[in-house]
Amino acid sequence: MKTSLIILAAGKGTRMNSDLPKVLHTIAGEPMLIHAMESGRVLEPELTVVVAGHSAEQVRAATLAHDPDATVVEQEEQLGTAHAVAQARPALADFDGMAVVLYGDTPFIQPETLERMQAALDHHDVAVLGFQAADPARYGRLVMQGDTLERIVEFKDATEAERAITLCNSGVVAARADLLFELIDGVGNDNAAGEYYLTDIVGLARARGLSATAVTCDEAETMGVNSRADLALANAAFQTRARAGLLEDGVTLMAPETVYLARDTYIGRDTLIEPNVVFGPGVTVESGATIRAFSHLEGCHVSRGGIVGPYARLRPGAELAEDVRIGNFVEIKNAQVAEGAKINHLSYVGDAFVGAGANLGAGTITCNYDGVMKHHTHIGARAFIGSNTMLVAPVSIGEGAMTGSGSVITSDVEPDALALARAPQVEKPGMARKLFEMLKAKKARTQRGS
Ligand code: UD1
Ligand code: MG
Repeated sequence: MKTSLIILAAGKGTRMNSDLPKVLHTIAGEPMLIHAMESGRVLEPELTVVVAGHSAEQVRAATLAHDPDATVVEQEEQLGTAHAVAQARPALADFDGMAVVLYGDTPFIQPETLERMQAALDHHDVAVLGFQAADPARYGRLVMQGDTLERIVEFKDATEAERAITLCNSGVVAARADLLFELIDGVGNDNAAGEYYLTDIVGLARARGLSATAVTCDEAETMGVNSRADLALANAAFQTRARAGLLEDGVTLMAPETVYLARDTYIGRDTLIEPNVVFGPGVTVESGATIRAFSHLEGCHVSRGGIVGPYARLRPGAELAEDVRIGNFVEIKNAQVAEGAKINHLSYVGDAFVGAGANLGAGTITCNYDGVMKHHTHIGARAFIGSNTMLVAPVSIGEGAMTGSGSVITSDVEPDALALARAPQVEKPGMARKLFEMLKAKKARTQRGS
């Protein structure tokens, strides 16, 4: 059966106390909404519909930036979860298959759990994801009869006996799309909150003799975010899980609790990560690399045997080939660095190609920006760039060429040539001694005078 996702993201998130809509607050460097979209990806959704409301334009922009094929619909008034799902109906008018409802503020539902939800629909008309709550608090309660889910009762409407149930509703629901919308048609708002509850579809389905069941998962997956405190907890939970995953995959983390990972960080086995390293989105590190302390990486690739840091910054588009060395206080942006090249100290290399085995001396800078446009720098294989060379782009340094320290290189350098672009040295014999004597005499005069 084909699948579509309906992601609810219209709520204001009042308790975040923020100008930013709740679902755009980030966990591990990415909006929660993106985490929810990504967890649904395992179902290979044919359509993804995000229901936006508060700050809908911002939510729309973030959704489409991540997945241009997604559809964003607007729920102008937040009248409840059933009403929110109903807004997706026109977008799914021609869709024949299963619909899975996710929340944009519940980022940790695991792919394997969604697969079990999908499988449950082989035998049932409606499947709801539940969990045993350590503290059931204000969650909706799942009323079971054996394997059958009879109904869901919201906390506000529950009796004492129902409140004693600890099996709670995560909010994730799956049903055939046409059935889901049909059931929602029957949902009213005559309840304690005066809202259209999506949860009511279970009782409605059962009344029609349809079957409903609960799939369960670990409570940690269902963690929702309502406040900054929740967000901090969610970030911490994410990091703990991601670090444990890397350790299991054979990555050495010298001080795991100081390493920050993104949702999509990939690190190969036998790579060593020293303390205090931050991975932003889009980083892949191959096996057998070393990322030394206090480095910051995002949108980059480090190949086998690479050594990065300490104190290095790899920005989007930094592509390091095998055995590249990037040392302290070096920033690389949108640059391919070929095998075995070394950029070891105090450099900025942006919009560039650095050939195999090239060596960039301390303080080498690619001057890539003229204030309006960015320009490319090409450095050939085995070139040796003297310390403190300014490479004013666009410029090309041939293979095996050298630049003298302190050069400002503004035109292309041929292969194997030495380019010097600095004032020639002038030497004046005895002049230093004379200068010292003159200055000391001057100092003595001023001290006598005062
Ligand atoms: C809901 C469930 C409850 C479950 C809990 C899990 C209902 C009626 N109740 O309660 O059983 O235990 O989630 O966290 O479904 N939203 C919209 N538009 C609306 C209303 C909500 O987009 O009109 C979105 C919210 O932004 C949020 C999600 O739906 O992402 C859930 O809404 P929320 O108000 O938090 O529902 P709960 O009362 O927590
Ligand atoms: Mg909630």
